[in-house]
Amino acid sequence: MCGIVGYIGKRNAYPILIKGLHRLEYRGYDSAGIALVDDEGALNVYKCKGKVAALEHFVETKNLGGSIGIAHTRWATHGVPNDVNAHPHCSVSENIALIHNGIIENYRVLKDALEANGYTFRSTTDSEVLVNLIEYIRSTNCCTLLEAVQQALKQVIGAYSIAVIERGNRDEIIAARKSSPLVVGIGEGEYFLGSDPASLIEYTNNFVYVKDGEVALIRRNHPLKLVTLDNRESKIDIKQLELSISQLEKGGYPHFMLKEIYEQPKTIVDCIRGRVNPDSGNVKLSGVIDNRERFLRARRIIFVACGTSWHASLIGEHLIENICRIPVEVEYASEFRYRNPIIHPDDIVVAVSQSGETADTLAAVELARKAGAFVFGICNVVGSSISRATDSGAYIHVGPEIGVASTKAFTGQVTVMAMLALTIGKELGTVSDDYFHEVSQALLELPDKLTEVLKLDAQISELSKIFTYAHNFIYLGRGYNYPTALEGALKLKEISYIHAEGYPAAEMKHGPIALIDNEMPTVVIATPDHTYAKTVSNMEEVKARGGRIIAIIAHEDEQVRRIADYCIEVPVVTECLMPIVVSVPLQLLAYHIAVNKGRNVDQPRNLAKSVTVE
Ligand code: G6P
Repeated sequence: MCGIVGYIGKRNAYPILIKGLHRLEYRGYDSAGIALVDDEGALNVYKCKGKVAALEHFVETKNLGGSIGIAHTRWATHGVPNDVNAHPHCSVSENIALIHNGIIENYRVLKDALEANGYTFRSTTDSEVLVNLIEYIRSTNCCTLLEAVQQALKQVIGAYSIAVIERGNRDEIIAARKSSPLVVGIGEGEYFLGSDPASLIEYTNNFVYVKDGEVALIRRNHPLKLVTLDNRESKIDIKQLELSISQLEKGGYPHFMLKEIYEQPKTIVDCIRGRVNPDSGNVKLSGVIDNRERFLRARRIIFVACGTSWHASLIGEHLIENICRIPVEVEYASEFRYRNPIIHPDDIVVAVSQSGETADTLAAVELARKAGAFVFGICNVVGSSISRATDSGAYIHVGPEIGVASTKAFTGQVTVMAMLALTIGKELGTVSDDYFHEVSQALLELPDKLTEVLKLDAQISELSKIFTYAHNFIYLGRGYNYPTALEGALKLKEISYIHAEGYPAAEMKHGPIALIDNEMPTVVIATPDHTYAKTVSNMEEVKARGGRIIAIIAHEDEQVRRIADYCIEVPVVTECLMPIVVSVPLQLLAYHIAVNKGRNVDQPRNLAKSVTVE
């Protein structure tokens, strides 16, 4: 949530900052702003409501000189999205400008104290409190900007990544992090600052990940320095990131979401590469093998995740219970962390997160580690906070996902979970050779199956026109495909703003059946599995009440074709991998309905891709 970017060096800062903001817009996009110190030392701050494009328009006639600056794209927490609440925020004297990602929980107490000292505030944000606190300390203690930031942050409760610059000082940016991501990109005689290294990849692939409690002193023509709030110096550890710019662009597609849906045959290849052996059919996740003893004595596995990652975890539960016979629990990270959960040292906690930055999931990881559990991460973003906080893990390797609605990350997560279950199951001896090879062969065939599914796009686009103006949808599925139904419904509501609910098919009669009429389409996942016959009966119940059915079927399923109004026929894979195949037409259906409605598919209202606040 909120993207922050900074630059100091020999080039004009503005174009670099704007490009960085565009790349970070997935983190929030309700307002944007920029602060530059020009060559005369003047501090120029420009900000406005709306997307980064609105900011670019707003600054067209302004002084954009300066080779140092900071910029921000916002996802509102305190205060409505408007020009005044947009970042950067300036101190009362307008000498200091600050950008902030996170939440200052004790901002009210700090604000009262500052008000008692004569400070006034323009915005309703917590961030403006922090910049004034820094100024207050700087002026009353006559200290450096670095010292003022360190002292101010000692008083702050909450989460932050911040960057601060000062009028008259074109040589220094101070940045700091606690629980919100922050990296410093190292160039030749220049430094970059960002919430996400991918936003800076066209300038450098050398990054320093700032750790919690560290403050970065970024000075022109000086080596980077990291210090704690108590001014103890930390070691600089430069990491290389391999990423190509084309992965961050739309590549001819109208939306990132569509590009990412279409990438899935390839992302599955990347996900299984080196893990499923095409010759022997063996499957191995090194994060499990390297910690074999720990997995062998696991009494229980607990998945913690949010949003789409939570849905993928529900599929993980089925996979692990079926293949490994280890009891599994799936928890919303936000609930887990606050409900005093029972965690045994023999438990394995699996944290699932595309971004690797979700605040609640990160907090759940910390809680689990404190309780002595072994924590395994399933993340996409390499070097992200969760991937660094876990004991071991497996990246999903699907490349940057920019569309806010998750697609390829979901299928990548389920693919990793299948490999996780097979690897553990083999070590434990709970999976038969035949089944092991059936699933591993199916994993190898998945990319071709997904290529086949994508051929349904034109049919789904036509179908979407019939349902664009529905106000409610219900999605039904069972077993492995109950979570797929939840995920299908989530995709639709996220990007089209149509109310949609996912339900286990058999539960429909315990409530949702009351909603069914010919105004409310029902999407039924009716692919072959051991509950197929029951699902067909549920469809009859929907039809008997005048409901309209879109069925996801496999083969020429004449029985379902006779009941359903519309059928989408997908190729069959082994039952436990069907969610991967079935989720693709559901992604496409949501996508086309949202496009028909003229929605902003990649940046739906109120959502953000990376939720770094609670
Ligand atoms: C946000 C995104 C969702 C995502 C969820 C969890 O709500 O909009 O698409 O599923 O966060 O994100 P994570 O990065 O932890 O998977």
